[in-house]
Amino acid sequence: MNKKILCLAGDGIGPEIMAVTKPIVEKVCQKYGHSVEWYEGLIGYAAYDVHNDTMPEETWAKVKETEGVLFGAVGLPDRDEQVEAMMRPEKRALLPLRKEMGLSINIRPITIYEGLESLSPLNENLSKGVQLTFLRELNSGMYFGKRDKDPDGNWASDECYYAKDEVERIAKFAFELGRQTGQKVTSIDKANVLGAIGLFWREVVTNLHAKGSYSDVELEHCLVDAFNLYLFTKPNQFRIVLTSNMFGDILSDGAAGLAGSLGLLPSASINPDNGFCLYEPSGGSAPDIAGKDLANPIAMILSAALLFRHTFKDEAAAKEIENAVQKVLGQGVRTKDLVLNGQDDSVTIVGTSGMAEKILAEI
Ligand code: IPM
Ligand code: MN
Repeated sequence: MNKKILCLAGDGIGPEIMAVTKPIVEKVCQKYGHSVEWYEGLIGYAAYDVHNDTMPEETWAKVKETEGVLFGAVGLPDRDEQVEAMMRPEKRALLPLRKEMGLSINIRPITIYEGLESLSPLNENLSKGVQLTFLRELNSGMYFGKRDKDPDGNWASDECYYAKDEVERIAKFAFELGRQTGQKVTSIDKANVLGAIGLFWREVVTNLHAKGSYSDVELEHCLVDAFNLYLFTKPNQFRIVLTSNMFGDILSDGAAGLAGSLGLLPSASINPDNGFCLYEPSGGSAPDIAGKDLANPIAMILSAALLFRHTFKDEAAAKEIENAVQKVLGQGVRTKDLVLNGQDDSVTIVGTSGMAEKILAEI
């Protein structure tokens, strides 16, 4: 399979984690009979410095001409202060990319890797084997609802709106994944208080489960506050977590904390109608360590694994990368963020490029 892939490296550590990930993609392509036609584009402050725009027209054109995006990171807190609010990369680039490209399905896998249990704030009994897949609705809900504000400053409102087909779209993806993996689906809501949207979410999910003939897939409902607690008391009882946009944003960051480092967590955002996808590490641009060969490239490399799974539809190629990562971690190879107190004589500490080279060598 040949795919046109756009690299948007962006700001901070984005360019360096992107640079070391591309050779891994190339090697996996070679091994599995695929090829990538690379496109390069500017986004975030890297784009602003050239075009005075954090999401220039030129980049939009490239997005529309390719089949998937490998995304590094955007945003630099210092620069945010200096530009107009509408130019901030979240507002100007990230959210419009999600919306305009119909990226309604956001997948955030959170795994506590064997050998890294001690990084987790959970004790080893609880952390062993944690493997969560957050499926976050990404195109609607409070992120895109009506905004209203009293001109006199006495009230403000952000609406949480969901249409039935928007809930069904993400629920269907969850049930299909549940069927494919044999894993339970836990749907998150606040049906005990939010008498409209909370009940509606639960009803639509329940109906689709019944009417869509998903009786082979186990479904449970969980209130968002209780789930937030269970993440820390019994995380192993969950696998696929189905959430709205806002709840998914909040819960997936909390769950990411369980893994011990944001540098390990990939994500994929999918347009279920045309297959267009965007792959992005969950960590941010980490400007404090940018350009120092310190950043952990694993989240970016695992995002490339998701590229093989969802764009190339090649499960074996995806697993090849995931196994290589696990193997290298198993050998005790660590970037600094994976070492408690920055020091441990029993492991080998490497930089961004060192980690990527080790993973490349396992492929
Ligand atoms: C995320 C981020 C974004 C979000 C921000 C940067 C707009 O926190 O991807 O989770 O809130 O969705
Ligand atoms: Mn977030």
